[in-house]
Amino acid sequence: MLEINELKPTSKSVLVLGSVSAVGRAIAHEFAREGYSLLLGDIEIEENERIAKDIRIRYHVFCDTLFFDASDFDSHPVFLEKVIEKFNGIPEGLVICFGYMPVQEEAQKDFNLIKRTIDINFTGTVSILERVISKFEERNYGFAIVISSVAGDRGRKSNYIYGSTKGALTRYLEGLQHRLSSTKVHLLLVKPGFMDTAMTYGLNLPQRLLASPEEAGRILYTAWKRKKQVVYVKWFWRYIMLIIQHLPRFVFHRTQL
Ligand SMILES: NC(=O)c1ccc[n+]([C@@H]2O[C@H](COP(=O)([O-])OP(=O)(O)OC[C@H]3O[C@@H](n4cnc5c(N)ncnc54)[C@H](OP(=O)(O)O)[C@@H]3O)[C@@H](O)[C@H]2O)c1
Repeated sequence: MLEINELKPTSKSVLVLGSVSAVGRAIAHEFAREGYSLLLGDIEIEENERIAKDIRIRYHVFCDTLFFDASDFDSHPVFLEKVIEKFNGIPEGLVICFGYMPVQEEAQKDFNLIKRTIDINFTGTVSILERVISKFEERNYGFAIVISSVAGDRGRKSNYIYGSTKGALTRYLEGLQHRLSSTKVHLLLVKPGFMDTAMTYGLNLPQRLLASPEEAGRILYTAWKRKKQVVYVKWFWRYIMLIIQHLPRFVFHRTQL
């Protein structure tokens, strides 16, 4: 069995945060297949180590793990130091896949759930991304792939607490893309519709609109390769959301969306 110390990190390297998520795992496999060294950061230690071991065996690339809690903002500077230590420098890229979606009705009655959603989806992402992007900018090279959601495109009663954190994240990422437009740092904003993952488990969703995590991983990787700025998963969500965004309020308020 391949141990970590048998494989050395190369400069072709990616930090994947939320690597235990179904999509995080899928995108990690995409990069490993192309020979990238990987560092997997997640709140779940054991499953993360299992994923890393599997990647080392399959692709024979450096793949190590680190504990990462998106909502523990104070730990992020030290976390980044550990990343630099493990990779012997700043990685080439960062992929952010962590996220949290509360049950809307429960969150409406419990501010702690609302705060947790904001902390993980928005503040946690901004906290780590801003630090990493500054390093990429200093070097004038690097990339980030960040998962937002179509839920951020228009506030809907069924999901506006989660949706508002993704809406804020989308606006933040658009601003960051503007800031980076004159540099060689690439930022891909990902807007998935429904994906077949733990987050949507048990929800009654139309099968035809669902993307599997593997499909999502492939779409993200291809969009990144093509240097896209925004990608919808799957492509038709761009048009679905265009319609939803442009529904007049008097029509929209009669829907159960
Ligand atoms: N599934 C969809 O339909 C859908 C649609 C649009 C956007 N998205 C977004 O896609 C991304 C991936 O989600 P997914 O669908 O693959 O769902 P998922 O499997 O539930 O992934 C979410 C991951 O985030 C982790 N996480 C939660 N709190 C964390 C924290 N404080 N620090 C670090 N990690 C934490 C979770 O760990 P635990 O399991 O331990 O809590 C889980 O591994 C998320 O950003 C999500 O918002 C999903």
